[in-house]
Amino acid sequence: MITDSCFAVDPWALKETFLNLDLLPQSESVFALSNGHVGWRGNLDEGDPHGLPGSYLNGFYELHPLPYAEGGYGYPESGQTAINVTNGKILRLLVDDEPFDVRYGRLGSHERVLDLRAGLLHRSCTWTSPAGRTVRVRSTRMVSFTQRSTAAIAYEVEAVDTPVRVVVQSELVANEQLPSVAGDPRTAAVLESPLDAEENHAVGNRLLLMHCTRNSNLRVAAAAEHTVQGPGQTETSSESSDDVARLTVTSLLIPGEKLRIDKLVAYGWSRIRSLPAVQDQVQAALAAAGSTGWQGLVDEQRHYLDEFWARSDVEVDGDEEVQQAVRFGLFHVLQAGARAEQRAIPAKGLTGTGYDGHSFWDTETFVLPLLTYTWPGAVAEALRWRQSTLPAARDRARQLGLRGATFPWRTIDGSECTAYWPAGTAAFHVNADIADAVIRYVSASGDQDFERTSGLELLVETARLWMSLGHHDHRGIFHIDGVTGPDEYSAVTDDNAYTNLMAARNMRGAADSAERHRDEAAALGVDDEEAATWRDAGQAMHLPYNDELQVHEQHAGFTGHQLWDFAATRPDQYPLLLHFPYFDIYRKQVVKQADLVLAMYMCGQYFDADQKARNFAYYEPLTVRDSSLSACCQAVMAAEVCHERLAYDYVVEAALMDLDDLENNTRDGLHIASLAGTWMALVCGFGGMRHNGDTLSFMPRLPEKLSRLTFHLGIWGRRLRVEIKTGIATYTLLAGSTMTVRHHDEALTLTVGSPVSRPVPGSALRPAPEQPQGRRPGQLRLQRGRQ
Ligand code: BGC
Repeated sequence: MITDSCFAVDPWALKETFLNLDLLPQSESVFALSNGHVGWRGNLDEGDPHGLPGSYLNGFYELHPLPYAEGGYGYPESGQTAINVTNGKILRLLVDDEPFDVRYGRLGSHERVLDLRAGLLHRSCTWTSPAGRTVRVRSTRMVSFTQRSTAAIAYEVEAVDTPVRVVVQSELVANEQLPSVAGDPRTAAVLESPLDAEENHAVGNRLLLMHCTRNSNLRVAAAAEHTVQGPGQTETSSESSDDVARLTVTSLLIPGEKLRIDKLVAYGWSRIRSLPAVQDQVQAALAAAGSTGWQGLVDEQRHYLDEFWARSDVEVDGDEEVQQAVRFGLFHVLQAGARAEQRAIPAKGLTGTGYDGHSFWDTETFVLPLLTYTWPGAVAEALRWRQSTLPAARDRARQLGLRGATFPWRTIDGSECTAYWPAGTAAFHVNADIADAVIRYVSASGDQDFERTSGLELLVETARLWMSLGHHDHRGIFHIDGVTGPDEYSAVTDDNAYTNLMAARNMRGAADSAERHRDEAAALGVDDEEAATWRDAGQAMHLPYNDELQVHEQHAGFTGHQLWDFAATRPDQYPLLLHFPYFDIYRKQVVKQADLVLAMYMCGQYFDADQKARNFAYYEPLTVRDSSLSACCQAVMAAEVCHERLAYDYVVEAALMDLDDLENNTRDGLHIASLAGTWMALVCGFGGMRHNGDTLSFMPRLPEKLSRLTFHLGIWGRRLRVEIKTGIATYTLLAGSTMTVRHHDEALTLTVGSPVSRPVPGSALRPAPEQPQGRRPGQLRLQRGRQ
């Protein structure tokens, strides 16, 4: 997309210089605005044309039955789908009674700019109606980071060369008709008219609609307030019915005159609160936003983002597209998580209904690491959401005959809703991923209060799961059988290396935390004996290895399987899951996404440098990257084993996943994990950053293409800036007391005001391993006619 001529590369913005209607669905995703609580897709103000209209509220969904050809014990009975709620974005314009629609008349210019520093989406265009009347339309839209229930639009229409009568209809619309999608399990189940009307008002410039869902029993209120400024002959009227509330503004404009409407929109939703209570809630939110005013909201937004960028910015010299993409990614990750506040961070954020709006391990393994070092408050909130779902996770464990908690593979409200066991509940590693995020956050932030009140319980209940899922064999070695690791092309396997190592970390982390908080641990029923069993199991964990090939096995027996016939697989047969039967995929050596390679990054201390290089070389030719989560992990390990060029190609792929629509599904929403993964690939790949307990280390190395990489980290109450240039790395402590970091094998002491520089070793320049035919990074772009 950004290589399409309508998109311009800019370091701090996403700029579309003319409208290409073929890219409308994708552009709605990349221009989506959200604060993690409320999300608006980047639909055009006038609603039509659209790819997918989208207004989403975090945790707002409908239930639907999950049909099974043949039922079985423990199958989840209902699925959850995030639904398109009341659309508050709509401002329809009529010019001398002709509707402004970009498909008719003449669109003289059309520009949209997502300003990443201001957190605003600007649109400006000139349009000449079929009858020859020209108007200039400008709108600026925001979803407020500071007032989380509020979104706002400043809309302006100006007569250009002849007097015009304009009518603007500002609306709230529920139950919009959605395009139907079929054939791809990754997209949402479309629910028709999921909202039942409860209440509607239109009083003066204020509109309100209230609805509820039939099965999930959620109630939503949407309200809008308008300030209208126009010439003398400007009139307003309002009306409402079940699914539409409308303010109509009419005005006669002579050339140069403008009509301006500031629209504030507030959302409130609840399962338990009464209709008057939810109604009052949105009225209160509107009152607060109204007293701040449009300009006040714009100023607050800028202030919030100034703070974010000061803590998180990544600068890249040498590749303008990657520079733009990494900031675009950081911005969208912030949008997904900033104000999620004890709700989930879905795989698509609030940008579309792909994956039904579900959350996966993507949150803990890809999104939370970035936020841990840049915006840590959001991490505590995301993990507290997991804690709030413990009752459902305990029920699930009981249902499966296990102890502790079994967190869902995919969910909105905390209960499992995957209908397919092998790529669902069997991916038990999500439990260790949650534990890992707890351990990282507590270690980086020192947030003892969080550990005591939330982290400990998450660690204990997940450790209990592993003890009941795994077993010691006759030699005392601990195994975890019958699980699916990150690679969903091998399912229900024994001793998945990633799962085992992460479970060991989970169990050790639980024992450590229980020791630090003895009273709270005792209240959870943990005694010294139980903690000792966790330590023993962690210590005795099996890590499968093939002595003959001298490589680790992704899971027991993996390297003995038949190889996938890559030579006979055509480029258009990827992703394999849409073209081949699972039974065949499962029994062959073919890897959907980094698994053993991810284990080497996350649990690097279990592998020596030679093993890492050999393992990487073994798994590269098997890994097809049918998941957007893979490229960033491969980038990190490619950099660590000194294949900088290959690492760079993976960085580009992760960075452009959505901006270039590499998986052909950006229309369904953004790949938030891959966007976060771009940060991970740069910081942990080329920066070589690893945080392990009380050690923070860097192994910087730059690919030829980049001349500078700079990033910021917050850890242990300090703020740090790392700059890597060709041949030299500089560490600057920006705030906080003296600290030690490692640069390759050397310990450096940092104090504020005294940057420390060290040489960056050159690359070994070994030949990089090959990927499966047609799956070289960079090739996806080529296949889509880019480069
Ligand atoms: C991947 C999972 C991921 C999910 C959501 C799947 O294709 O295999 O690892 O959690 O997408 O992003």
